[in-house]
Amino acid sequence: MSRSRLFLPSGSLAVLTLAAGVAATSATATPRTQDEKPFVQASSDVAAGEYLMTVASCHDCHTAGWVEKKGQVAKEDQLSGNPVGFYGPWGTTYGKNLRQVADRHSEDEWVDILRTADHGQGALPMPWHDASKFSDKDLRALYRYAKSLGPKAVRLPRNTKPGIKPTTGQYIDLTVKDSTSK
Ligand code: HEC
Repeated sequence: MSRSRLFLPSGSLAVLTLAAGVAATSATATPRTQDEKPFVQASSDVAAGEYLMTVASCHDCHTAGWVEKKGQVAKEDQLSGNPVGFYGPWGTTYGKNLRQVADRHSEDEWVDILRTADHGQGALPMPWHDASKFSDKDLRALYRYAKSLGPKAVRLPRNTKPGIKPTTGQYIDLTVKDSTSK
C-alpha cells in the first residue's frame, strides 16, 4: 500500500480533483424534477405508506375512532372511512373510505386526485392544499398501503349541500363563530 503511494505520479492529485469537479458539475446540471422532493425511505413502499398515513394524520379523519382511541385501531378496521361528519360552509363531508378508493382507482388516478383536489371537486376539511404537495413517491406509497389493506365496504352517510345539516348520525360543527356575538 505505502509502496504504491510512494510511486504515485505527482499529477494524479490534480487529475482526481478535476474528476471530482466534473462529477459535481454534472450532478448539479441534472434538471430538477418532481422526484427531487423529499420522500420517505422504508423497507418497502407499503411500510413507507403505513408510516405516512400516521404522521400525515390521514387516520384522524379516515379511520373511525382513531382520535378517540389514540391510534389504537386494528389494521382490519383502518382507513375504512369515518361516519362522523364535518359540517361547515361546504355542507357536510365525511373522511372517505380510502380502502374502497384504492380499490376503485388506479395508482395514477389516486395521484391525480390528490394533486388536483379531486379535479376541483374535493371539499374541506380534507387538507387538499397540503396533500397536493406530497412527492410522487410518497403519494404512491400512501396508495400502496391503502391498497394492501384490501377493500372493506363500509357505508358512510351522504354529504349534505351547503346550509343543510345532517339529519342522521353524528357530526362535528366546524363553522367559525365570533365570541363577541350573542
Ligand atoms: C381533517 C380531516 C382530513 C384529513 C387530515 C385527511 N383527510 Fe382525506 N378527506 C377528508 C374528507 C372530509 C374528504 C371528503 C371530501 C369531499 O367529500 O369532497 C376526504 C377525501 C379524501 C380523498 C378523496 C376520496 C374520493 O374518492 O373522493 C382522498 C384520496 C383522501 N382524502 C386521502 C387522504 C390522505 C392520503 C390523507 C393524509 C395525507 C388525508 N386524506 C387526510 C378529510 C381528511
